[in-house]
Amino acid sequence: MLTGVDHIPHTHLPEKNAFTRGQPEHGAELADELERLVTLHDASTIAAVIVEPVAGSTGVILPPKGYLERLREICDKHGILLIFDEVITGFGRLGAPFATDFFGVKPDLVTLAKGLTSGTIPMGGVVCSKGIYDAFMSGPDNMIELFHGYTYSGHPVAAAAALATLDCYKEDGLFERANEIAPYWEEAVHSLKDVPHVVDLRNLGLIGAIELEPIPGKPTARAYEAFLKCYEKGLMIRTTGDIIALSPPLIVEKSHIDQIFDTLRTVLKEVA
Ligand SMILES: Cc1ncc(COP(=O)(O)O)c(C=O)c1O
Repeated sequence: MLTGVDHIPHTHLPEKNAFTRGQPEHGAELADELERLVTLHDASTIAAVIVEPVAGSTGVILPPKGYLERLREICDKHGILLIFDEVITGFGRLGAPFATDFFGVKPDLVTLAKGLTSGTIPMGGVVCSKGIYDAFMSGPDNMIELFHGYTYSGHPVAAAAALATLDCYKEDGLFERANEIAPYWEEAVHSLKDVPHVVDLRNLGLIGAIELEPIPGKPTARAYEAFLKCYEKGLMIRTTGDIIALSPPLIVEKSHIDQIFDTLRTVLKEVA
């Protein structure tokens, strides 16, 4: 049996989409690259396509309008499962419970972690469609279904933390809150447009990205300097290459958002 992983292109098109507010207009056609891979490998050899609905650690790459819908269509056409990695986008990050709700695209499997316990205790999970669940659960009675056992699987403390976290999300209306404050967040992100070194600004829900022009011959140096200077001023940012990724807690207040962007504005004027 041949096994392997192939890749479809990312959807970062700064020449067409720079400074877009929310979902970019251009790039849905990049999903058609999946058709090329199906022709190359044959659909019967492709078990699944896995994507982050909004790619996080790679530098906050947003899905262009229609892109995820097109992936779903192609997967359906060829009987390929679609998996959303919602470790970052899940639990309110986009102002909806999950990215699948936000984009209105239904995958076959969803992976979860981080927000599941709000990071208080390690826990990950997978949600799947009924068909997949039944396939695993319809074996002989004397066999253990989905036979894999980790020492800490289904740990009661992690499960208790997850249940308590879900209660907090519901009682405090945190997903709705994220949705309400997202327009203020968008304004704040795009207020950095004329700040030195900024070549792109992106936002969706409570996610933001500031892309800096790299120093020639010294990629990542500018963003790293910004990271250190922000840290000294009490602001924790994350950088990937020369991209600053922002993902504030769902309880963030408008005054915190002002503080975050005042600090960033000051720092970006100071960096080399
Ligand atoms: C999108 C995404 N998927 C998966 C993971 C891994 O999550 P965990 O270490 O909780 O399994 C991460 C971790 O940062 C992530 O950002």
